[in-house]
Amino acid sequence: MARPYPNHPNLRGNYAPIGIECDAPDLVIEGEIPQGLLGVFYRNGPDPQYAPRGGYHWFGGDGLVPAFRIEKGRVSYRNRWARTLKWQLEHEAGEALFSPFNPMATDPRAQGKDSTLANTNIVWHGGRLLALEEAHAPFAMDPDSLESLGEHSFDGKLVGPMTAHPKIDPESGEMLFFGYRAKGMFTKDMSYHVVDRNGTLTRSEWFEAPFSSMVHDFITTREHVLFPIFPLTGSLERAMKGQPAYAWEPELDTHIGIMPRNGTPADMRWFEGDPCYVFHPMNAWTEGTKVFADVMKFEAAPLFPNADGSPADPAKAQARLVRWTFDLAGNTNGYAETPLDDAVGEFPRLDERRTGLPYRHGVIAANLARAKGDGGVMNSVVWYDHLRGSRSVFTFGPADGISEPVFVPRSPSAAEGDGWLLTVVYRAEEHRSDLAVLDTSDVTAGPIAIAKLPHRVPYGFHGNWRAL
Ligand SMILES: [Fe+2]
Repeated sequence: MARPYPNHPNLRGNYAPIGIECDAPDLVIEGEIPQGLLGVFYRNGPDPQYAPRGGYHWFGGDGLVPAFRIEKGRVSYRNRWARTLKWQLEHEAGEALFSPFNPMATDPRAQGKDSTLANTNIVWHGGRLLALEEAHAPFAMDPDSLESLGEHSFDGKLVGPMTAHPKIDPESGEMLFFGYRAKGMFTKDMSYHVVDRNGTLTRSEWFEAPFSSMVHDFITTREHVLFPIFPLTGSLERAMKGQPAYAWEPELDTHIGIMPRNGTPADMRWFEGDPCYVFHPMNAWTEGTKVFADVMKFEAAPLFPNADGSPADPAKAQARLVRWTFDLAGNTNGYAETPLDDAVGEFPRLDERRTGLPYRHGVIAANLARAKGDGGVMNSVVWYDHLRGSRSVFTFGPADGISEPVFVPRSPSAAEGDGWLLTVVYRAEEHRSDLAVLDTSDVTAGPIAIAKLPHRVPYGFHGNWRAL
């Protein structure tokens, strides 16, 4: 018999798990789904199967993947858990056995077992659908049935974990990714890997970061790879003492390693800047000796405490879009920062056909109404035109909360940014969710189509589109 979930901010409201797998073959549509919108929109997020043990963190729930299949103006919906080893062992036991953020609290029955959550992102590459979570190898799922296929290690070539944020080079079709704490928990070892367009792992490199930290994402251009190391440190010593395994230590500053794509870690150059945290970059590109990176920057890492366990300053726990400029020909290891917008938001995306290249359009989910550090739900889609220095905004209702907006081109040859934005909208007043489709030709007009779900989709992390 499953126990009740404890009263925790990330187990309440639309963070609470739904705990169901289901199929809805033909959703009610308001408006009109464009005939050219043909594919599957996958998302991923935590939905703990059982009440947690040893405390809960939003990042620690089992991955439950919702998928919207859009075809001929109709939308069908299916969701399935990533039935990882952890999920299976706990399913058999009828209770949580693992404690992802406090290994000391893991049940003896689960000690030493693979604890993949597969809860953060889901990508389509090389003919495979991979559910990703940064501390482990990818987890493969069937792209149509969402049946769990198991850990995917690229024919045994991948050693160590894979980030949930690989980058797919739009020109070569390669998938670039990294792993942190790559030689064991809280090590400062990092790995870098390249998988070719067919899904074969062709290259692996290893190096050490300045210190062990939580490295959620990285940045790539056509010519360079950037490894950002922020002072959100990981410490086994702290964890053993029952203190925060991950904590904010601003005195260690920010370190950004830049490696040429055609070089090795021996060619890495480290730049240093003020302490900050970035979960997600929007895009980056190289121009001559300069590298530009647009990122959503927090003044301090959100969601994690200080090293002494005291809570972080909520006023700093909000992200804004900034542009970093690195001069590889300069004689300083500093870098410049220019603010691009004052909107508080997260989940930056772009037209991924411009990943790593000079680009014009990007998008974020924003919280425009509440910029005073009270966190809260994001309900605005902000679509940027960097060429004009302008933005278009659509704000959903005050009780609505949106997911990361994902761009889909109108056709493979459509101009950059010409297409649609997909976002899942939680309607708190109705306690259920919708899939909303916006047209980038007029974002401010709001959704051109809404597919209505009978239940809610809990707030999750990331999603991606697979064209059919
Ligand atoms: Fe992320």
